[in-house]
Amino acid sequence: MRLGLAGTGRIGTAHAETLKGFEEVESVVVADVDTARAASAAAKLGVESVPLEDLFAAGLDGLVVTAATDAHPGLIIAAVDAGIPVFCEKPVAADIPGTLAVIDRIGASDVPVQIGFQRRFDAGYAAARAAVASGELGWLHTLRATTFDPAPPPAEYVAHSGGLFRDCGVHDFDIIRWVSGREVEEVYAIGANRGEQFFADAGDVDTAAATLTLDDGTLATVSLTRYNGAGYDVRLDVLGSVSGVMVGLDDRAPLRSVEPGVAPLPGPAYPGFMERFRPAYTTELKAFLDVVAGRAPSPCGAADALAAFYIAEACEVSRRERRPVKLEEVRR
Ligand SMILES: NC(=O)c1ccc[n+]([C@@H]2O[C@H](COP(=O)([O-])OP(=O)(O)OC[C@H]3O[C@@H](n4cnc5c(N)ncnc54)[C@H](O)[C@@H]3O)[C@@H](O)[C@H]2O)c1
Repeated sequence: MRLGLAGTGRIGTAHAETLKGFEEVESVVVADVDTARAASAAAKLGVESVPLEDLFAAGLDGLVVTAATDAHPGLIIAAVDAGIPVFCEKPVAADIPGTLAVIDRIGASDVPVQIGFQRRFDAGYAAARAAVASGELGWLHTLRATTFDPAPPPAEYVAHSGGLFRDCGVHDFDIIRWVSGREVEEVYAIGANRGEQFFADAGDVDTAAATLTLDDGTLATVSLTRYNGAGYDVRLDVLGSVSGVMVGLDDRAPLRSVEPGVAPLPGPAYPGFMERFRPAYTTELKAFLDVVAGRAPSPCGAADALAAFYIAEACEVSRRERRPVKLEEVRR
């Protein structure tokens, strides 16, 4: 199998390294608008690089898109038009009209598209989904999702990120749908700025909380921050009438009990998403090989990405207008 990869930044170089390690992958060819960056990444990784305009003519069986978000729609559409199965990091596009435009263009095609929501490939989230589906938790009363970054990204990133709900909370919104098997009906979200000024300057917040009402009446909360000094903290509590399970409560969770006699977790706390989710990224890309080879359908398509994006959009509207927002208000 020969795979292309567009975008040799932070996550692109990590994904290229993972792809290179799969037995089934004979070669990886990378490209970036920044040709020098692609060449330097290729040299470090021991793979080929080509100018971006030559990527689609490089005899690809599949394409992995890890470019900046603005480039996702064009690359997804070009791959589908060329009949090349494509994996694209989330999001499909920077906003809802852009996402709908991509779905409209690729809708009629049978070329598979997989969107990168890696939590679906994390062992803990998968076990929580199985526990819900088996009925062993009883009926769910509460889901509590947490995504806490240890430190903020650069100001330039924040300005183009789409905001905390679309950039970060979207992973929680996707996984709440996937674990519960339910849709979100209504949200109420609030945000705060107690950190650096560039969040407010970008119209964003550094910390946020949202309550979600699911279509069976289950309540969910999503808590987000860019300033969790204790470490990278991504968890989900799934609590039902019979029992409950917790995702992310492992030796490296950045949690410290102050109860007498409770031993501290061994640590060290996860410094970021790459360390916390490395096995999930590997499993996710392995699943893409199955998609490329025609052994499996896409496990997470553009419609799933759109559904999560609608929840983020509703939270953004709710936060700005300080009122509950029904999903039907933002769905198009
Ligand atoms: N699933 C996750 O956990 C996760 C984590 C991080 C980033 N992401 C997503 O991955 C994408 C990349 O994020 P990053 O942090 O690696 O960014 P980055 O800024 O480190 O890298 C982006 C790269 O894309 C290149 N690029 C821009 N336009 C291009 C184009 N048209 N064709 C090819 N290359 C192009 C840039 O030159 C840069 O090298 C973003 O969309 C982000 O949302 C997902």
